[in-house]
Amino acid sequence: MSDGRKQQMDAIESALVGLADSPLYSYRQEHQYHAVVGEGSLNAQVMLIGEAPGEREAKTGRPFVGASGRFLDELLASIGLKREDIYITNVVKDRPPENRDPTPEEIALYAPFLAQQIEIIQPMVIATLGRFAMSFVMEFLHVPLQKVPKISDVHGQVFQGKAGYGPVAVVPLFHPAVALYSVQRRDTLFADVETLRPYLQAE
Ligand code: URA
Repeated sequence: MSDGRKQQMDAIESALVGLADSPLYSYRQEHQYHAVVGEGSLNAQVMLIGEAPGEREAKTGRPFVGASGRFLDELLASIGLKREDIYITNVVKDRPPENRDPTPEEIALYAPFLAQQIEIIQPMVIATLGRFAMSFVMEFLHVPLQKVPKISDVHGQVFQGKAGYGPVAVVPLFHPAVALYSVQRRDTLFADVETLRPYLQAE
């Protein structure tokens, strides 16, 4: 792993830990939660981006370690991927109270950190998990569309985005939490994640 990438990611972590301007900061402090920066390989070809940490993630400081994370592991295993092969993070890095949707202000506040993480890792493909991550990533990477589509219309498709380091494929997936209450969505997620397979040859 390149030390430069590690140093840059450590700087992001320090900034997030001290982010007292965030409306979620006092909630983090009161509950002794952690900011969840992200984890995995800093040289990953595949990056996964979720919405925001839940309670278990905020307690441990690690992304996707609760029930939807366990399903995510199954999903990754179905295409031969392990957590350590990829990098996984969220748009918002602190837990919103009672897992409510992140506000536009919160997304705007945390977005520059995610933007930097994308530029540090330079993945070949980004799979977004859920509609918030899809909207942010499609806009940030200038995916050429009139407007951000509905996730139910475009899940599992490949879009072409443009990062500072070059072209990057964007694959919107449903959020793995939907698989916990819908068998149909669970099957859809297993079918859609196959879209990532061609990118794994390059790992
Ligand atoms: N849901 C998310 O979007 N991210 C997590 O880290 C956990 C649950």
